[in-house]
Amino acid sequence: MTATVAVAHAAPELLDGLDLSLVPESEHARFAKRRREDDRLSFLAAWAVASRMVADRMETDVDQLRVVRTCIHCSSEEHGKPQFVDSGLDLSLSHTRGGVAVALGTGCEVGVDIERVPAEPWPPEMVRVVVGDDEPIPFPGQEVRVWTAKESVVKCLAVGLMAPVKDLAIAFRPEGPVVVRWDTRPDVVDDLVLRELDVPEDFSATLAVRVAGGADSLDLDYESLT
Ligand SMILES: CC(C)(COP(=O)(O)OP(=O)(O)OC[C@H]1O[C@@H](n2cnc3c(N)ncnc32)[C@H](O)[C@@H]1OP(=O)(O)O)[C@@H](O)C(=O)NCCC(=O)NCCS
Repeated sequence: MTATVAVAHAAPELLDGLDLSLVPESEHARFAKRRREDDRLSFLAAWAVASRMVADRMETDVDQLRVVRTCIHCSSEEHGKPQFVDSGLDLSLSHTRGGVAVALGTGCEVGVDIERVPAEPWPPEMVRVVVGDDEPIPFPGQEVRVWTAKESVVKCLAVGLMAPVKDLAIAFRPEGPVVVRWDTRPDVVDDLVLRELDVPEDFSATLAVRVAGGADSLDLDYESLT
């Protein structure tokens, strides 16, 4: 089984003409709740990029797209992993100040996370919460790469950060990050493939792809809008 994923990352400041007409109506109220200008811009950029990618694939207009969410923990339709109705695609998106990432999976589940590389190494308290006791940090000062790998996995499976990430162990091998253990979901460890995305050096971004039974190969269509 080949997993096919379209991934895009963008610097919101570089996208021209961002406005709410590029975003499905269901997201407008959520946009209105955002107060900080950089947060509003990143939100708009992520949803505009995702909507354009999905509309192109569905050969329709953005104003025809509908988004739904259902929380796998409490069944609320107010939160949870969002999906474009009838798209046949699995969606994941991530927005942070100055950077957004979007992944669309065909025949697989996807999770993507993008974060800014912090100026300072993580404080020990943060490391204790995120990193397992037997899990070395492979890159001193780059703990954020461990974080984006773990968050991409919990977003892929739609559990979000309700799951403890300390029991999700990542090994950084020459070929890239690999999930070696996840006590909460041992059943999916062999189904997961991770890729670090080629983003500007002040960011870290990781894509997680899950194919039930494992993927033989990953067909990645990668778009950089920076
Ligand atoms: C999802 C989550 C990990 C994102 O954290 P973050 O680093 O702040 O934000 P990111 O920009 O990387 O990702 C945000 C996007 O993740 C997506 N998302 C939200 N919930 C998600 C979930 N359960 N699974 C996967 N993706 C989710 C959304 O698209 C969201 O963007 P949007 O609000 O514009 O739609 C975190 O907010 C979380 O764990 N939320 C769920 C908490 C939960 O399950 N509560 C249950 C209460 S019953």
